Amino acid sequence: MSKKCIGVLTSGGDCPGLNAVIRGVVKSSSQLGYDCVGFLRGYEGLHDPVRYLNLTPENTTGILNQGGTILGSTNKGRFAATVGVADRIELAPELLAGVQTTINQLGIEGLVCVGGDGSLAVAQQFHEYGIPVVGVPKTIDNDLSATAFTFGFDSAIECATNALDRLHTTAASHERVMVLEVMGRHAGWIALHAGIAGSADVILVPEISWTGENVCHKILNRESQGKRFTLIVVAEGAELPGGGHVAEEQIGAQSRLGGIGQIVAAEIECRLQRETRVAVLGHLQRGGAPTTFDRVLATQYGAHAVRLILEGKFGEMACYEPPEISSVPIAKAVNHLRQVDRNGSAVQAARALGVSFGDCKADESPLAFRSDTEEVATATDIEVDADLTLDIAEAATEEALS
Ligand code: F6P
Repeated sequence: MSKKCIGVLTSGGDCPGLNAVIRGVVKSSSQLGYDCVGFLRGYEGLHDPVRYLNLTPENTTGILNQGGTILGSTNKGRFAATVGVADRIELAPELLAGVQTTINQLGIEGLVCVGGDGSLAVAQQFHEYGIPVVGVPKTIDNDLSATAFTFGFDSAIECATNALDRLHTTAASHERVMVLEVMGRHAGWIALHAGIAGSADVILVPEISWTGENVCHKILNRESQGKRFTLIVVAEGAELPGGGHVAEEQIGAQSRLGGIGQIVAAEIECRLQRETRVAVLGHLQRGGAPTTFDRVLATQYGAHAVRLILEGKFGEMACYEPPEISSVPIAKAVNHLRQVDRNGSAVQAARALGVSFGDCKADESPLAFRSDTEEVATATDIEVDADLTLDIAEAATEEALS
């Protein structure tokens, strides 16, 4: 009699820790007497043509600390179950039937789908169709509901923090304003956590509206204290002061975000005539070895996913509820973005340390401390042309989209 089998696939954008999950699934299922197959290029490998690898503890050895995914992944293709953040699109019935056939033919008892919001929305439709799936929450953005942390996030903030540390020394040496643009889509988790860990002076996130005037006020406030440089981290999804996002490209219903760093810099140069440089971290945040935290988290997610299959808990996603790994229905985790709480403790702590979120003047922050005798030059002392600022933002967006 052939052994029972567990399937695994990695879907969506890559991130550190995918291989650690695969290894966790393979090793723990092998311990329990299961065979394991890994489907190639995300959901695409499930049907027409079916493409998979037989995975063993031997051929997955040494991958724990490797970035990327040995199975390949894609965030494009035939398996799309959402438009934008929440609008559901139904997978084609023939596609679902094809996947069901593959699962039956290979004798797969359960399929571990490792992915973010969009990928797990596909897993949810599989579950509704009767295909035995469980989910593992992956994304550097940390924007999935129902889990405290997705794996990949810690590695991304490690990378962004490291970048801020490096920019810090140049900013201080050359008395410059340095802007770091980080990923995160419509959530500001990467900017917030890296900003705190990398001691940014200004953190701009999608969840908190900012103005150029307030950012400049912070710069002047620092200068009045003898600090002639400022470090700013901005999330790619931070909204423009007049509303809207800066997008590099429109891909279907999703826009590829990017370019806000240049706009923040242009605002500062225009208002204060200070030398302002921009670094865009981009995909460096998604590459490289996972951090220790992500290795542990991803390994636990892999082992827990196998356990969910053994217990017949299909349609569930492994989740982290510190200090334990448990599970929730996939439906609870997808289709509603988990964003930064503007009144949450991380934002409060940053404000308490004097970090500006660009939503008020440095000396107006409810938590900021300032001596009454201190003289602070304000951004309003500088002649501000609001229309010009808006024009710069619009022109940059148009250029980026043209
Ligand atoms: O969701 C992860 C993420 O890296 C986002 O932070 C970013 O906006 C997006 O993916 C970039 O995707 P792609 O690599 O397809 O351009």
